[in-house]
Amino acid sequence: MTHHRIVSIVGARPQFIKASPLTRALRARCNEILVHTGQHYDYGMSDVFFEDLDIPKPDYHLGVGSGNHGAQTGAMLAAIEAVLEKEKPDVVLVYGDTNSTLAGALAAVKLHIPVAHVEAGLRSFNRAMPEEINRVVTDHVARWLFVPSVTACEQLRREGIDTGVHIVGDIMYDALLMHRKRAETRSRILDQLKIVPRAYYVATIHRAENTDHPETLRALVNALEDLGKPVVLPLHPRTEKKLREYAIDVGRNVRCVKPVGYLDMLLLQEHAACVLTDSGGVQKEAYYLRVPCVTLRSETEWVETVNAGWNLLCGTETGAIMQSVQKMERCPVTHPDLYGDGKTADRIVEVILSA
Ligand code: UD1
Ligand code: UDP
Repeated sequence: MTHHRIVSIVGARPQFIKASPLTRALRARCNEILVHTGQHYDYGMSDVFFEDLDIPKPDYHLGVGSGNHGAQTGAMLAAIEAVLEKEKPDVVLVYGDTNSTLAGALAAVKLHIPVAHVEAGLRSFNRAMPEEINRVVTDHVARWLFVPSVTACEQLRREGIDTGVHIVGDIMYDALLMHRKRAETRSRILDQLKIVPRAYYVATIHRAENTDHPETLRALVNALEDLGKPVVLPLHPRTEKKLREYAIDVGRNVRCVKPVGYLDMLLLQEHAACVLTDSGGVQKEAYYLRVPCVTLRSETEWVETVNAGWNLLCGTETGAIMQSVQKMERCPVTHPDLYGDGKTADRIVEVILSA
């Protein structure tokens, strides 16, 4: 069977970044139809990535927007189904663990269209996270499971999934290698923010479990306030809204800025003394850029970065965060390749086309 028509589903910020190398590789060898669900829609959460990373304009923009999980996922499911019925693709490709991922996978499998899941097999083992539900369900309906590591492969095996699993590395490493040089020549973010290498930290916070409880968000902000260096905090719109809603004042040590583009984000991470984050993607990028990371959660899907000594899980208590940052000021000596060699996109296309 040949798989020449592929519908790829994207909708949230990290998916645009992951699509950047894979869309290019797919279009070199087959017919890709790109669908944007509209889960993220602000210029700084969506369009900026298409512009900066030369991602083709989506063939369909579903304009679903924000909402509660059921309403948002349901609206996407219906709209994606209509696209699939019209386009009749051979494969539907989904990325990661957002509501757009789940909707794409469900719409496809119900129409008997095989699903390719990029970034499969990851687990936090915390079912209170919406992302964990999205990943588990997507993995269990996928035909191809493209995993970044042996750990992910073993996690799938424990759930009884042992066919269609391919260890291909991390697609975000492809993206980073593809755009890093351009970030260095094009981004002016350090000058714009008047900061100098290694004399600041960069932080991101957006997980529901961190933003949606006032005491947790306050503890996180307090820690950033008291760190010994200024902290650049590109604010995810969810976090910005919650800070306002809970009337949490961010003091002078924290430089809140709008979400930044990918090229600016790479540069901010590369020159930071340490990265503090609850993002999945940012933990890996800090690793690739050889910058220590403190993860503002008590578990991670990217356990290899912790085992390698470059990432420390510190939870959300103010004191623990401050101690962790101090501890991480010294980087480990070794830096093994944890998630492949940056040729993940080519491997994925090869597997799908040769099936
Ligand atoms: C989503 C994903 C999360 C991923 C993150 C990447 C789910 C369940 N969560 O979380 O896994 O890590 O994207 O960034 O899919 N908003 C805006 N403008 C936008 C987008 C969002 O104002 O362009 C605001 C809205 O108030 C919205 C809130 O942010 O309700 C949350 O957005 P949503 O897409 O539901 O979840 P994220 O927190 O972005
Ligand atoms: N990112 C960005 N601008 C920002 C914050 C993050 O370009 O202001 C990038 C970051 O470099 C990484 C990706 O967005 O490539 C991570 O996305 P996010 O943290 O939203 O989601 P997660 O990876 O946690 O699902």
